[in-house]
Amino acid sequence: MVVHVACVAFCWVNACTAKKRTLPMPKKGNPAAAEGEEVPSKQRKTGPSAVPTPLNFTSPSSLFQSLIAPLGLQEFFQEYWEKKPLFLQRSDPGLATYYQSLFQLSDLKALCGQGIVYDRDVVLCRCVNGKKNVLSKQGRVNYSQLKKDFEQKKVTLQFHQPQRFKDELWQIQEKLECFFGALVGSNVYITPQESQGLPAHYDDVEVFILQLEGEKHWRLYEPTVPLAQEYSLEPEERIGSPTHDITLKAGDLLYFPRGTIHQADTPVGVDHSTHLTISTYQKMSWGDFLLDVFPSFLFDSMRSDITLRAGLPRKLLTVASPPPGTTKQLCSFMRDLADKMERGQLEPHSVGMKRDFVSNRLPPYVQDDLAFTPAGKMPALEDLVSMKFVDHILVTVEPSEEITDEAVELVVFLLHSLANSREDHMMGNDAEEEQKHGSRGLRFALSHLPALRQLQSGERHLVANLQLDQDADKLNLALSLWSEGLLMVC
Ligand SMILES: *[C@@H]1O[C@H](CO)[C@@H](O)[C@H](O)[C@H]1NC(C)=O
Ligand SMILES: *[C@@H]1O[C@H](CO)[C@@H](O)[C@H](O)[C@H]1NC(C)=O
Repeated sequence: MVVHVACVAFCWVNACTAKKRTLPMPKKGNPAAAEGEEVPSKQRKTGPSAVPTPLNFTSPSSLFQSLIAPLGLQEFFQEYWEKKPLFLQRSDPGLATYYQSLFQLSDLKALCGQGIVYDRDVVLCRCVNGKKNVLSKQGRVNYSQLKKDFEQKKVTLQFHQPQRFKDELWQIQEKLECFFGALVGSNVYITPQESQGLPAHYDDVEVFILQLEGEKHWRLYEPTVPLAQEYSLEPEERIGSPTHDITLKAGDLLYFPRGTIHQADTPVGVDHSTHLTISTYQKMSWGDFLLDVFPSFLFDSMRSDITLRAGLPRKLLTVASPPPGTTKQLCSFMRDLADKMERGQLEPHSVGMKRDFVSNRLPPYVQDDLAFTPAGKMPALEDLVSMKFVDHILVTVEPSEEITDEAVELVVFLLHSLANSREDHMMGNDAEEEQKHGSRGLRFALSHLPALRQLQSGERHLVANLQLDQDADKLNLALSLWSEGLLMVC
């Protein structure tokens, strides 16, 4: 079979509908509003942080583990994840100092110098008598003006996606995206004394709140929509009394599941509060997965099953009540599809969700972009090789062209996030719209799937032992991965 190897930034095939990144809530304004504004200067490497980190960056799970310490991973997922809030009160000065180093009010001065703009990067809001007021502003942010609004109008400064500017947050969120296998966004909220930024509401994401500076008083309420799929305000009279009434101090962490109603204010006697909201698992439910997998699965079944291609009863769409047996017939089709899947006659392929993740996530945290270029010895048949950045690649199986009635050739894509833009992370510039930031990858004939799965496991393999028939194909595969900066000779 002919091997297609193409090192191109291709646009999405079968991409799910264009959607704006809205993590975390409240929903961000239309990024187009900031059009024409220059993008803040390219990332500035701030160098190694002077504050010792209590986080363990060895692996994605050690990072998450150290974030929720002293609680264990297993206990977290059994007791709290998607179930109930978790409040970790630390009273640890070392941790407080580290959290403060992640982002603080005074950082805004330097950031204003870099050219941040209202709406895209910063929103000013204040909740008065249960109503949200947004101080509408446009253009470049002037630090002394910002300070003035903060002190005199008591607005909350909501800073979007600070991982674009702060290396430590880039490193944390990149590891969390590996850990969850899902996009991870963040916002910073800075609220002055005796003020509240947002009214009681709930979000469609799992959130981790890190208290960075000062203190914040939080009230959480029983969800009206458990595991909510949308952001929503909740009127005071519907929320009842709080299930949790707590005050976070620097170094503390609070987790709560999507749907948890919450509101927070900076108490009297605290100069200001700064917290970071890290959020994940937006549209990552079983239902979302079914939506992704089912249409192409059904389409494939229609090609092999004439009963699915048989016409509907006449006037089914227009009659007042469908003929008897309609529901029964639909159920029978669905059962039949499930049976086919179970017997392995047809394989479900997730493409939209996979591509969405790989093309919008953070690139690997590296000190030097040279880490992404091919390096070291070129692989030969007798070499032992392994994948680099194995947490940043995934494999999809897709039709080679537009789906038609004829049997179509399936191909394999190996996609990676090495060329993704840190500056655009979670900013709503979907990779689909901005082709220059589209996910990068390689395309192979379906016969390469077993060999790709071998390599994706992260283990070392002899090129000669890759599961392909011809030696030339084995070598070609190794060379194309090496050229893309994804493979090294051990
Ligand atoms: C960090 O995590 C790794 C892997 O789990 C572990 O081996 C190591 O001991 C941890 N380091 C610290 C300082 O806890
Ligand atoms: C920022 O705003 C202040 C007034 O609040 C003004 O005096 C100053 O010139 C402005 N700075 C810049 C760089 O525009």
